[in-house]
Amino acid sequence: MWSFEENSRRYAVGSRQQRRLWLLSSLRALCCLLPTAYCLLFLGCRQDMHDQPKYQPLEASKFFDDGRASRPLVEGTVPRSASILDGPAGRTNPAEDDFFPFPITAEVLARGQERFNISCAPCHGRLGDGNGMIVQRGFRRPPSYHDARLRDAPVGHFYDVITNGFGAMSSYADQVTPRDRWAIVAYIRALQLSQNAALADLPPEERQKLGAGGPVR
Ligand code: HEC
Repeated sequence: MWSFEENSRRYAVGSRQQRRLWLLSSLRALCCLLPTAYCLLFLGCRQDMHDQPKYQPLEASKFFDDGRASRPLVEGTVPRSASILDGPAGRTNPAEDDFFPFPITAEVLARGQERFNISCAPCHGRLGDGNGMIVQRGFRRPPSYHDARLRDAPVGHFYDVITNGFGAMSSYADQVTPRDRWAIVAYIRALQLSQNAALADLPPEERQKLGAGGPVR
């Protein structure tokens, strides 16, 4: 009896340990299996997305008449990276445009004057006559803004010269923002007018001041 009791106790103890071991190993197996199952599930979904019908860039297509999967841009498309001040992409020659993309106010002109005197006057001179300080020290002389050709040039030409440079003049796109470029162009127009105004261009009260020998401001 005694030995039986002893045996059954040992047996009971042994079976508890076995159960704990079994529990531990099955927990471990579960820990390994779960991520694997998750990965398989996830990969399964991803594979579906991979296999969907689609065109690679510039792939041939039988669907379109011209055989190209990539469609041409709609005319007048503006790249997301571009400023609306640069105008729509794909225009043949924006330098020929003769309009400002926003209204020119006294503040815009004042800003243009300040930017012009900083960025352009060192070569072009404060009057725009091409007699800036750098030119007086030997740099190539730019043409005067008061030449008939530049007086008649559309505003887009000036914007284009600032943006892309012109001959010996380098581009100022890095130093001058698109909005400031237009402000400078507006100020250049004002400079041109200041040197070529006819008496008839003045308002009557200013004309009278001129007749009386007073200052015209
Ligand atoms: C470092 C000197 C220098 C600076 C600064 C400079 N320019 Fe010029 N610019 C020149 C020279 C030189 C030319 C003549 C280039 C040529 O004909 O090869 C020129 C030409 C021009 C022309 C005439 C283009 C034509 O149709 O003949 C315009 C307009 C002009 N610049 C505008 C500007 C404006 C606006 C700025 C300021 C944002 C500016 N430039 C800054 C040197 C300069």
